[in-house]
Amino acid sequence: MDQIVEAVSILNQNGVVAFPTETVYGLGARIDSDVALRKIFETKQRPFFDPLIVHVFDVSEAKKCFKKWNEIAEVLSKKFWPGPLTLVMEKSEIISDVITSGLTSVGVRVPHHEIALKLLENVKVPLAAPSANLFGKTSPTQAQHVRTEFGNHVFVIDSTPCEIGIESTVLLVRENKEISILRKGIITKTEVDQVLKDNKIDYRWVEVKDKKESPGHMKHHYMPDIPFVISKNHQITVKQLAEIVSKKILEMPDEIEGIKIKKPLKPISKVEFMRLAKDPNQAAREIYSQLRTASERKPDLLCLVLIDDYSSEKWDSIMDRLYKAASMVIESC
Ligand code: TXA
Ligand code: MG
Repeated sequence: MDQIVEAVSILNQNGVVAFPTETVYGLGARIDSDVALRKIFETKQRPFFDPLIVHVFDVSEAKKCFKKWNEIAEVLSKKFWPGPLTLVMEKSEIISDVITSGLTSVGVRVPHHEIALKLLENVKVPLAAPSANLFGKTSPTQAQHVRTEFGNHVFVIDSTPCEIGIESTVLLVRENKEISILRKGIITKTEVDQVLKDNKIDYRWVEVKDKKESPGHMKHHYMPDIPFVISKNHQITVKQLAEIVSKKILEMPDEIEGIKIKKPLKPISKVEFMRLAKDPNQAAREIYSQLRTASERKPDLLCLVLIDDYSSEKWDSIMDRLYKAASMVIESC
């Protein structure tokens, strides 16, 4: 059977399916089936306080998910959709509380991927879809990653590796024209600024004041199956690494905000070093896959030594993921 036909049939029977997007693979369910939506949380072992992103076929479908549409959303959706920008605004009555974790807002995006769009077109209902991985773990950028994560429990639509490789930029747009980035992504604040200014839109950036506005932001996330550390010290030796990690990691709690911290199970001898591509777009595309492949080789420790300058805005979103994936960061020796 055609993959899309099979996926639609599963979705229509209150099931979940994994599908590719340009960012990462999503685990989707119809937004009009609370039974299916709950299966997303069960499958991922995700806590109910973390809201899901809704994927729609086009702008007109997006408008139905929100209570009101405004000129900020109009301009940004024209520029960035289909694409890796999620807009968070007040939800309409078609959006279940299971999706929003009880919040009155919802995050919506149009994915830039032929298969995702074909699926949405055929199922004819928006799909809520978080990344298709166990809660707190590394996001999947290949069909095989999802299969490794969930085995035969989840039907996965096969495709090529995701083009962008990290999750969408999440932007909160309030009715009073205040906007905030809730999650950094490949679409940067500068790009959003540029589009809004070019269109002479009235808006203001504000920091998120209330933690409730930004759920799902834990200190740790995206964690691989092996202990991963970041060293800011360029000259660190394997011996120093082993000593510092063995000592400090034991002092850390086993779990932080519900996410298990990976710790070495035996004395550290086999250390693998992670290398980032020079180009941030390529690095973004590769990081999750690198974390997964390294985990399969089972070193005692994976280490990223920060040798270059990663202070540009594009690198920010990549570093955000890597810092959260790391069990610890070594500042100096
Ligand atoms: O690129 C992506 O966005 C991927 C693909 C599959 O589209 N999806 C994704 O979903 O990353 P997920 O569930 O892993 O991330 C959802 C995050 C939440 O943890 C939260 O930070 C934010 O999006 N979010 C969703 N709805 C929100 C809301 N109503 N208010 C504030 N933040 C929200
Ligand atoms: Mg995720």
